[in-house]
Parts: sequence; structure tokens; C-alpha cells
Amino acid sequence: MLFIISIFLITFGKQSPDPNDAFLNQSIAVMLGGQQKHYYDNNVVVHSSTTNQKNHYSSISPDYFDDDETTDFVEQLQSYDYNQDINLNDLRVSRIHSDINKIEIMPLIIPEGNMSNYAVKKYLGEGTFAFVQSGIRLSDGLLVVLKQIKSKYLWWARMEAHIIDILNEEKKASIVKLIDMYMNNTSPVLVFEELQNSKTLDYRIYSFYHDLILEEIKRFYLQLFYGLSITHSKGIMHLDIKPQNIIVSNDDIQIIDWGVSDFYYPLKEYRTRVGTRHYRAPEQLLHYKHYDYAVDVWALGSILASTIFKKYPFFKGRNNDDQLLQVVKVLGSQDLFQFCEKYDIKLNEKLKKTLQGYERQALENYIDENNRELVSPAVIDLLNKIFVYDHRIRISAEEVLQHEFFRE
Ligand SMILES: Nc1ncnc2c1ncn2[C@@H]1O[C@H](COP(=O)(O)OP(=O)(O)OP(=O)(O)O)[C@@H](O)[C@H]1O
Ligand SMILES: [Mg+2]
Repeated sequence: MLFIISIFLITFGKQSPDPNDAFLNQSIAVMLGGQQKHYYDNNVVVHSSTTNQKNHYSSISPDYFDDDETTDFVEQLQSYDYNQDINLNDLRVSRIHSDINKIEIMPLIIPEGNMSNYAVKKYLGEGTFAFVQSGIRLSDGLLVVLKQIKSKYLWWARMEAHIIDILNEEKKASIVKLIDMYMNNTSPVLVFEELQNSKTLDYRIYSFYHDLILEEIKRFYLQLFYGLSITHSKGIMHLDIKPQNIIVSNDDIQIIDWGVSDFYYPLKEYRTRVGTRHYRAPEQLLHYKHYDYAVDVWALGSILASTIFKKYPFFKGRNNDDQLLQVVKVLGSQDLFQFCEKYDIKLNEKLKKTLQGYERQALENYIDENNRELVSPAVIDLLNKIFVYDHRIRISAEEVLQHEFFRE
């Protein structure tokens, strides 16, 4: 069976990883002798070793075969001077929460330990950074998720633990709960409370399966933007907001995977090839290194647009420049060029040529008979305030909470 799946994936997979492709889903299901549902529930693509070395657990991953999908650690960054004087009115500085972090933060030390407090229940999968298993805390039967991070990412595990630890001070924020951490030989293990009966958000918003009603969408996104507003108010950026890093049950939603998140410092340079392409903000796609919290708002806005319009993902580029082009096709060329001029972002001539000549599209153009019941003038207005090139003008997470969409 694995052989047949492998042949199938080699034949169709390379050019057609798109889960919106109903034919692909149907074909995989038929080959497995089951229903279309098999594609999701059995994670056929996920567990096939022929697809890619990267495993996406139980998630639908539209950009599975592309190579610049995740964080590029090789990107050159200038070192940062934590003692420098900063003019907070500098255009390169975030307009909000710009001076929360004043000294260099050393991430948590993860203590020695072993797994004897926990019994493993099920292997959930392997990602770039970690192996993830579900388990039980033996002392009281609490259901947990054990994320064993690969040794070479120890620093990142310490950052992840540190950041979640800070965020968990805010009990009501929709952020995964870290309950324990220890070193298992050279690998750090982070233990989270399991969100039971949850799925990653991509299951719920992927257009073919979309089962969210408007009331749930408002409730969940309000929680997510609230989570982001808390995160940002504590001087932290998530940097990998995507549907696969949001888990949702019937009545709860949580932002998980803080593996590449970071503390914001004004004028510090950050990796632009961080996170996942389809959710990258224009300033990242333009390789502008002084970006800030606003990249998370863009990412969550793109997911909201996916949810409302049942178009998954909303901006679907095949590589970094094509991703920018997809954004420009919606937001227009003129504002992009103005944005580049304002922030002194250089575009090479070839790319400039590719990006010119597009008018800003009205988001109403995306309304069709499949999504009409979810779209309102209020949500369009909110998305228009998120889909702004200029990250210093883009609405902040905290401002989103006040938006009419969540009140009507
Ligand atoms: N608290 C939790 N409750 C339920 N499921 C969880 C929880 N935490 C993680 N998971 C599951 O484990 C998966 C992997 O977790 P996470 O994204 O933190 O790991 P990762 O190795 O960083 O992933 P990747 O490299 O794919 O981004 C999630 O997609 C989710 O399905
Ligand atoms: Mg993840």
C-alpha cells in the first residue's frame, strides 16, 4: 500500500500539493478504498516518507512541497546593541509596545529530568523542530502533550519555554498551557496541557470541509486577537501564526508552537524568512528586517480572510516573490511602491516590473454563493484595516478587539 501511495505522490504530488484540489483528495481516498475523509483522518500525505522530510502531524498543508516554507536560520542579521539610544519616533521602530524589553533576555534554563512522571499514549508526529506525543501525567491522569525538541534547537526550546511561561501569566489568553519542562538526555521536553478533542484550525477552515458558523468565527477570532494583543503587550512576537499552529476544540481555541517566537527590540534586525510563506506579511516578503508585532496581525488576518471567504490559503504564492505578487494582486501596486519608498526598501528592477500595474481589488469581489452567509460589511472593513502594506498603519491586535465585527 505504501508503495502505491508513494508512486501516486511522486506522480501527482510535486505539482499538486493543494488540498483544495478535490480530485487529488478524492483520488487518494479512492486509492485507500475509503471516503474522502481518509485524506484527513489518516493523514496519508502526512505520514508518507516520500513527500518531504518535514512532517506536519495531522495538518493539511497546502505548501507541503516547497522549500522556503519555514524559518531560514542562515539569513544574515546584524548584531544588536542592547545599550544603544533609541529614538522611538524613528520610522523603523514599532508604533506600539516599542520599549517593553530593555535589557537582553536570557531564556530559561531547562532542568534535568526524565519521563517517569508521564506515560506516552500516542505518537502525534515529527516536525522540523520536534517529536510530539500525547501522554498522561501519572500522578493525576492529566492529559498532556510532550514536545521533545531536537537537541540542536535547544536555544529555541528555551526561548519557547520562556515566552510561554511569560504568556501563561495571563490565564484567560488563548495560549497553550505549559505545565512542565525537563531535559531528556540532550533533548529538551516541553509538556503542555492537552486541548482535548481539538484539531488544528486548518481542518475547520479548509474550504472543502469548512464547518464553522459565523458565531463561532467571531468567538474564536476574538479569542485569537485577544491572545495576540496580550502577546504583543508583553513585548513578544509569535512569528509563525498559521492554521496549523492554532488548535481548536468545540469551545476553546489556543495558539501553539512558540518555537520561533521572539522578544521585540526597537531597531533590531529579525529574520524575514521566518514562519510560513502564505502567512508572511509584505514587509517580510520584501526582506525588511525591522518589522514588528504587525506581522502577526497580518498572518491572523490572512487566516480570517481564508475563513470568511472559504479560500484556503487566502494569499497563495509558490515562492517568496510570487507570494508578494499574490498580495499585490489584491492590495495593488501603487501603495506597495509608496510603502517601499517610505521605508527605503529597494526592489530589484525585475521584481518591480512583475509587481507593477495592479489596482487594489475590492474584497467584495471574493464573495460567492459558498461564502455569502459569512461576509458582512464589518468583516470587510476589518480586513481592509489589516491588509495594509504599511505595518505602522496596519490595525493592531488590541485595536481589532474594539472592531465592530465582534459587536454586531
Ligand atoms: N496542547 C496541545 N493539545 C493538543 N494538541 C497539541 C497541543 N500541542 C501540540 N499539539 C499537536 O501537536 C502538533 C505539533 O505541535 P507544534 O506545532 O508545537 O510542534 P512543531 O514541531 O513545532 O511543529 P512544526 O515544526 O510542524 O511547526 C500540533 O500541530 C497539534 O496537532
Ligand atoms: Mg507547528
